[in-house]
Amino acid sequence: MFEDPLACRILGADTERSIRGEREAYDTPGRKRLRAFLAARSRYAEDALDLAFARGVRQYVVLGAGFDTYAYRKGASPLRVFEVDHPATQAHKRELLAAASIPIPPSLTFAPIDFEAETLLEALCAAGFDARAPAFFSWLGVTPYLTTAAVMETLGVVARRPAGSEIVFDFAPSADTLTAPQRLARAALAARVASVGEPWVSFFDPCEFPRDLTAMGFGSAEVVGSEAIDRRYFRDRADGLRLGGSGYLMHALSSGLAPAYSHEGGGPDGHPNDVEPDGGPSPIGRGVDGDAGGADDVHDLE
Ligand SMILES: C[S@@+](CC[C@H](N)C(=O)[O-])C[C@H]1O[C@@H](n2cnc3c(N)ncnc32)[C@H](O)[C@@H]1O
Repeated sequence: MFEDPLACRILGADTERSIRGEREAYDTPGRKRLRAFLAARSRYAEDALDLAFARGVRQYVVLGAGFDTYAYRKGASPLRVFEVDHPATQAHKRELLAAASIPIPPSLTFAPIDFEAETLLEALCAAGFDARAPAFFSWLGVTPYLTTAAVMETLGVVARRPAGSEIVFDFAPSADTLTAPQRLARAALAARVASVGEPWVSFFDPCEFPRDLTAMGFGSAEVVGSEAIDRRYFRDRADGLRLGGSGYLMHALSSGLAPAYSHEGGGPDGHPNDVEPDGGPSPIGRGVDGDAGGADDVHDLE
């Protein structure tokens, strides 16, 4: 589903041993759903990136990169990668990369930013980003931690990129779109992340959010719910790994780029791992006019 041969090397032998030593603790239903979502969102983003590359996009911006390893897995590549992240996270990552003897490829540039205080375009241009060329952006596991103003400011920068640009990101749905049990799960999760000093502060209505994005200048915006992700990536698994109602992705394309290129079926060139859709015009996502707010389709990752 998603292979990351560098993950254990970055985390180090002690952390790997500790995780492997408590396998059962990681196999609770909530943790399995979370693991499925983390793998699926990266897989989805990289599938879409492959298609963007095939169309000629040569800039990949990893917003809030954290320990993302795309650039290191690919090594020398004609795709320029910009890791945009808080300087403290970048410094920590660079220490771990050095300790694991993982080289920084020439295709990669670090672009430090505080999304709450700085403008994305300035940070990118200072790092050598070509603002006149299209770019693919991913923004995984970050928006819930930022203020809505910072999220919308950054998305506005992406919306104004040249035709051919796009972004894949995940978001947490607003509480009023959750069922009562989901609200309880959300409250427990909110308390847990807040207790480690990283509260979730931004939530979006899955019906309204795509409209907000097209209003700000994106040509199209499509919510990809958990059922669609399960159908695409987890359908034939025997181990029960699936999202099961947890998680939302958004895939937004700059104006001038037709959504018809679509991630479904792998596009014109296909992806070796693509799963064929069940049928129907858009089985994975729901566009700006669709019903994206299924009550079971929520971000209840606990
Ligand atoms: C949960 S990690 C996600 C990492 C990675 N994208 C992934 O998919 O696993 C959240 C990331 O958001 C970044 N982040 C959170 N708040 C930020 C801010 N105000 N400015 C810049 N980066 C921020 C953190 O540094 C961290 O890398």
